[in-house]
Parts: sequence; C-alpha cells; structure tokens
Amino acid sequence: MTACEYQIGLEGIPAAQSRISYVDGKIGRLEYRGVPIEQLAEHGSFLETAYLLIWGKFPTADDLSAFQYEITHHRRAKYRIRDMMKCFPESGHPMDALQASAAALGLFYSKRALDDPTYIRRAVVRLLAKIPTMVAAFEHIRKGNDPIQPRDDLSYAANFLYMLNEQEPDPIQAHIFDTCLTLHAEHTMNASTFSARVTASTLTDPYAIVASAVGTLGGPLHGGANEEVIEMLEQIGSVENVRPFLEEKFATKSKIMGFGHRVYKVKDPRAKILQKLVEELFGELGSDKYYEIALELEKIVTDKLGDKGIHPNVDFYSGLVYKRLGIPTDLFTPIFAIARVAGWLAHWREQLEANRIYRPTQIYIGEHNQPYLPIAER
Ligand code: SDX
Repeated sequence: MTACEYQIGLEGIPAAQSRISYVDGKIGRLEYRGVPIEQLAEHGSFLETAYLLIWGKFPTADDLSAFQYEITHHRRAKYRIRDMMKCFPESGHPMDALQASAAALGLFYSKRALDDPTYIRRAVVRLLAKIPTMVAAFEHIRKGNDPIQPRDDLSYAANFLYMLNEQEPDPIQAHIFDTCLTLHAEHTMNASTFSARVTASTLTDPYAIVASAVGTLGGPLHGGANEEVIEMLEQIGSVENVRPFLEEKFATKSKIMGFGHRVYKVKDPRAKILQKLVEELFGELGSDKYYEIALELEKIVTDKLGDKGIHPNVDFYSGLVYKRLGIPTDLFTPIFAIARVAGWLAHWREQLEANRIYRPTQIYIGEHNQPYLPIAER
C-alpha cells in the first residue's frame, strides 16, 4: 500500500468507497443513488428519498406505505427522555439537547444485533421517527411547557411543523418543508457523515453513531452555518448596509457564512432549489426584506470571490424558508440533523458492509527521547 501524502482536513483524500451519493463540485451536480437531486426535489418525498438512500432502491408503493406506517407509529418520544430534557438548562442549544437525547435513546435498545436485519430496520425506523419528536419536545420543555404529541394522521413534514406550534400546516408549506428535508438528507463524505462512518466502524450502536454525527454537524463551519446566515442577514438589516458589511468582511478576510464549500466551486445545486422554494413560499406568504438582502449579498460576494470558487452553499437560503415558516432560528441546525439522519443511516449500513475500523496514521512532528523533568526544575 503506498503511503498517501498528508492533506490537512483530509482534503481530496477518499475515506471510503460508496454508492450512496455523488457530487461533481465543478459543475454543481448532486445525485442520491444516481438520481439527480433536482428530480427527487421535484417528484419525491423525504421518506421516499430516505428509503432510496438507506436501502439502495426506490420503494414500491407497498414498501413506502409500510415504511411510512412504521415510522408514523414510532413517533412518540420516550417519557424518560422527555423527563431527562426537563433537567436540561433552558438556555441550552437544541443541538446539544438532540445529541444527548439521541445517545439516551440507545439506553432503551442496548442489545446490539448488527447482523440481524430486523434490528437494523427497527433502528432505522426509530431514529427517523423519534428524532423530529425529540427536537420538537425540547422546544416546548425549555419554555416550561408540555411537548405536543405527534399526530398519526399527518405526513412526516406536516407532523413536525404541527409539533412545533400545534397548528396543522398549510399543505403547500408542508410540501416545501418536506423538500427542504430531501435537499439536506445526504452529501457524500461531509464532516458529520465522516464522523458517523468512523463511529460505525467500531461496531457501536446506531444511536451512538447519530449522537456522534449530531455533535459534528453543530459546528458553524458545517450545519451550524444556516443559523449564522440568518443572524448575519438580521445584523445587516437593509440592502443599503450589505456593501459596507461585506467591505469590512473582505478587508479582514473573514469567512462569510453560507458561502464556500470544500467540493462545490460553483453555486451549490441545493442552494438553487432552495432559492426557488423561498420564492414559492414568499409568493404564498408575502416576501420580506431578508430575501432582498440575501440577493444583494450573493451578487457582491460572487462578484468579488466567485473566481475563487466562493458561491452560496446549501446553508445560504435554507434559513429564509425556515424563518418564513415561523421556525425559531436555533432549530435550523436540528432540522438539518433531522434530514441528515437518513444519510447517516445509509452510511451506517454501508460501513457495516465495509467492515473495517477506521484507524488512519499521522506524521509525528514532536520531539523524541525527552527526559522526565522533576517538578522543582519546571
Ligand atoms: C455544509 O462538506 C459538505 O458537504 C458540507 C455540507 C453538507 O451537505 O454536509 O454541504 C453542508 O457544511 C455547507 C458549508 C456551510 N459552512 C459555511 O457556510 C461556513 C462558511 N464557509 C467556509 O467556512 C468554508 O467555505 C467551508 C468550511 C465550507 C469550506 O472550507 P475549505 O474547503 O476548508 O476552504 P478554505 O477554508 O480552505 O478556503 C479556501 C479559500 C480561503 O482563501 P485563501 O486563504 O486561500 O485566500 O477560500 C476562502 C478562504 O478564506 N473562503 C472564504 C469562504 N470560504 C472559503 N472566504 C470568504 N467567505 C467564505 N465563506
């Protein structure tokens, strides 16, 4: 085996062979199991996409209704986990609450049976079903209220929105939210998926894997950027303020949230679709100034940095959809996690097939043969 040259951040280094998704960063192409994301966004649903990603094929009508039925009837959160959440500080970030709850879920299903297809299927169903409920539950518990129980008669996306505000969402808004979940479901070897694969490679349980991935996704350079983008747009406040804001960012060579990508060197195809969803939603609910500010930001940043491959990524427009749906800003990254559970579970199954623990090497740049130094001499 030839030794690879060290690349910081493992940039350009393949960490797995995979059939789950494909990205061409030069032309801005994303495929899930070979299907262009544009077609899944246009014609599919999130649960259908999750099935395709996890099991590697489109569900038949019977497969899909069985999958939906199982997930619908496993939505309720464990009472003890809800009680645990009551001990969390109200000021805690929902991503930390989600990471703790996902790990806690594993306490209820501690008997691992990774070679049993029934165990795998049940874990897939439980995580897809319960993660949204736990995100919504903490939202109410941290305000001192009782969580809203999931409804079995609502779709996956509609039920999540219902659990946030106890109102049945408008079907168009539920569909737009469902499409956002599809767009966020999977994205090759991003940082949180790499975390999931490393954790899965030790043959631990899927609940610990999701907890590991949630912890990684929360960082501002990864999934946490969608929350930062909205805070940036609110800080800018008007179209007139965009240019002075950016001039200061350019002068200090600061990273502008929602722009840039390790792989895409053109506009993220998901950002293009999300932008259309923003326009559709604003057509339905009326626009607000933040979209105009975003458009001005995109124009100036891509004029200045587009040649360097800095363009809007998935996080740039997603927050505008969620904000317009009335979702609190600090739930934007947990929503990213709700969707990405599908990708992490697909990679869990694929890692089980690879069956090799991740243990890379390093280039040691420290000292050798150092003497023990008595404390009196330090
Ligand atoms: C996601 O990997 C995935 O697939 C992730 C994701 C997924 O679906 O899982 O797509 C989701 O995480 C999207 C990214 C969300 N993060 C942000 O929006 C945060 C802002 N973006 C940057 O931090 C950055 O672009 C990264 C982290 C996304 C990518 O960083 P890289 O590949 O390590 O790039 P880099 O930091 O080496 O930058 C290369 C150059 C630098 O300039 P030079 O020092 O060479 O002159 O590009 C510049 C950077 O300064 N640059 C930016 C920039 N991003 C990179 N300059 C200004 N603003 C930015 N956002």
